Amino acid sequence: MRVSVGKLVDLPDGRGVRVEAEGHRVAVFRIGDSVYAIGDRCTHAEASLAEGELFDTEVECPRHGSAFGLTDGEPTSFPATKPVPVYEVVVEDDGVYVELEPKEEDE
Ligand code: FES
Repeated sequence: MRVSVGKLVDLPDGRGVRVEAEGHRVAVFRIGDSVYAIGDRCTHAEASLAEGELFDTEVECPRHGSAFGLTDGEPTSFPATKPVPVYEVVVEDDGVYVELEPKEEDE
């Protein structure tokens, strides 16, 4: 199911926004004209990845520093070892929508 997360111009560039919808907790990141959506809950100890800092297309968990890829959800550093879900994002007429059917595994 497709959920609106607002207009592209209203999303902050270079940092995350946490969105809760349909029982999902999603971290949405805008980098320029690109938007990524991954599970918000860090797989290590459930910190909010939307509050993490971006480095290219990776976000660093604010609690213990694991980095997760925004395109594949995979952790690239410890202590997290399990991926977060990756969600499909559609930008249409300046509106941003997240497809809440997870691409990989559910939270
Ligand atoms: S809660 Fe994210 S690395 Fe520990």
